[in-house]
This record gives sequence, C-alpha cells and structure tokens, in this order.
Amino acid sequence: MKTILSGIQPSGKPHIGNYFGMMKQMIDLQKDNLVYALIVDYHALNSVKDAEKMREFTHDVVLDYLALGFDPDKNVIFKQSDVSEHTELGWIFNTITTMSYLKRSHAYKDAEAKGAEGELGVGVFDYPMLMAADILLYEPDIVPVGQDQKQHIEFARDTAEKFNRTFGETFKLPEALIMKDVEVVPGIDGRKMSKSYDNYISLFAEDEEIEKQVMAIVTDSSGERPENVYQIHKLFRPINELDKIYDENKGKYKVLKEMLIEDLKKFIGPLREKRAEIAKDESLIQKVLDSGKQRARAVAGPKLEQVKRAIGVA
Ligand code: ADP
Ligand code: TRP
Repeated sequence: MKTILSGIQPSGKPHIGNYFGMMKQMIDLQKDNLVYALIVDYHALNSVKDAEKMREFTHDVVLDYLALGFDPDKNVIFKQSDVSEHTELGWIFNTITTMSYLKRSHAYKDAEAKGAEGELGVGVFDYPMLMAADILLYEPDIVPVGQDQKQHIEFARDTAEKFNRTFGETFKLPEALIMKDVEVVPGIDGRKMSKSYDNYISLFAEDEEIEKQVMAIVTDSSGERPENVYQIHKLFRPINELDKIYDENKGKYKVLKEMLIEDLKKFIGPLREKRAEIAKDESLIQKVLDSGKQRARAVAGPKLEQVKRAIGVA
C-alpha cells in the first residue's frame, strides 16, 4: 500500500482537464492505497477574493470528488486551511529558500516576460513553498498531477533535500505521477484547459453547456482534422476508433463536433445524476470535511513536531 496525495484549488468548477490530469488517478488508486485529496483553499486565496465563492467552490470540489466515487471513509479529503501545520511548515521552508530560487518558477518568469513581476502577489511568488509543505507533511510516495505542476513537485523535492541537509534526515522525497496521454488537456481555445481561463468544459456540465462549449471550440480551417476537437475527443474514445471516424468525416467539422457532444453527454450524464443524488444529503459535505480534518491533523501534527525538534524550537 502506497500513500498518494494531490491538491486542487477551489477556484472554480473542476473541468475535464482536472479529471483526466489528476482526479481520475486519485480515484483509480484509492482502492489499494491511502489517498489524501487536498483542497488548497489558501492557494486559491491568491485569486478568489469573495467569501461566498470560496465556500461554494470548496463545497463543490468535495461533492465532485464524491460523485466521482472517492471513498471518504477509507481515504482522506480535507481543506488545507483546516490543518494549520501547512502554513506553519510553509514559513519554515521560506527561511531556507532564496528569492533567486523562487524566481525560476514559471509564474514568475511569465510575469517577468510581461514586465509585471512587481505586480506578482507575494502569495503567488511563494506558492511553491506552501505546496511543498502540503506534500511533505504526509510523506506521500506518489503525487498525481498534470504536466503544469511538474516544476512544483521538483521544488518540493529540492526543499526536502535542502531541509534534510541543513537539519538532518526528516523528509521523504515524493515522485510526481504524470500520465503521458493526458499531461495537458487543451481547452476550447487550444490553450491548456484551466479554471482561470474561460476555456473549460466542466466535469458536471448541463447538456446545454456542453453543446455551447463544444460549438465554441476553435477550429483551424487550414487542416482536414479539427485538431482542438480531436484532442478533446480522444479522451473519450479509443484512438483507432476515433481515427476512423475522423478519416470518414474529413472537413466535416460540424458532424465531428456533434459526435463529441454525444460522447461528452454519455460520459457526463451519469456523473451529474450521481452528483445530484449525493447533494440531497445537505450535511454530508461538512461531515466528510470534519472527519478529513481530524485524520489529516493526526498525521501532520506529529510530523511538524518532528520538524520543530529538528530546527530547535521544540
Ligand atoms: P486549474 O489550472 O484549472 O486552476 P488546478 O491548478 O486546481 O487547475 O489543478 C488541479 C490539478 O489538475 C493539477 O494536478 C493540474 O496539473 C491538473 N490540471 C489542470 N488543468 C489541466 C489540464 N488542462 N490538463 C491536465 N491536467 C490539468
Ligand atoms: N499547485 C497545484 C495546482 O495548482 C495545487 C496543489 C497545491 C497541489 N498543493 C498541492 C498539488 C500538493 C499536488 C500536491 O494544481
């Protein structure tokens, strides 16, 4: 049995990129392993500045995980803000990290390229240290993520090594699990699908929303195959079947989009029904989060104590 951990920001509705990039691996791995599903609300605070929205998105992420089949009795789902050891360890990591190291992060480089590095939030700049704490407190073997998080996992490994060198062996180095076929699921505009761009197909979209989003997929009229449609479609059908369909319908973008709509409806429909069923129990989400909080603290508490002894504050 291995320990698996990953996080998602409650900064909008989970989408099919989150599902194929990370959530699916968490669900698939839960049977034979111990899985920690973390909702990183303090990370999301960098972008969500509305209390009602923060509550709603957090509630929805839990509900979505349950609808996908996450078992909260066997595994652990919890909020980052419920376990103060995360921010505490994040601070300790700040003290062994340099500005120049964090300036290597993609977020910083992107801001720098736009000449806007002075506008980058301190919380965004420091994001990798809180994420390193999220991971290292639980000593996971595997961290399933999309390709965009690869650098963050490397930061967590580097931070663990630096701490171990400075204060003695304390942290285990985590490994990222990035699924080759779904490392970057594209959005309807061809960029990475993301909650922060208006380019996603949400995992529990209503039929009308699916139709609207698919019809809005940007198609490049130069080729015979609408690449953005194909890249999303390949998540829902075996490649040989799909290639045959796309060969038979060369240039017929509308027909192909309609087929994708049908495939998406077949996939999302049952999930949406299950989600609506689970949502009827109004006290469930809070119960699940309370239990997750207790179980996470039981692990994070002693680990932080060990860290405190290693640095000499305890
Ligand atoms: P978003 O970018 O939509 O805000 P998060 O940052 O909360 O999503 O990411 C949660 C997880 O989902 C991460 O492991 C991330 O790598 C993965 N993920 C997000 N978008 C995609 C995508 N388009 N393709 C593959 N994985 C993704
Ligand atoms: N940074 C991740 C993202 O935006 C979310 C995250 C925070 C995370 N803490 C984590 C992922 C710990 C894996 C492990 O997608």
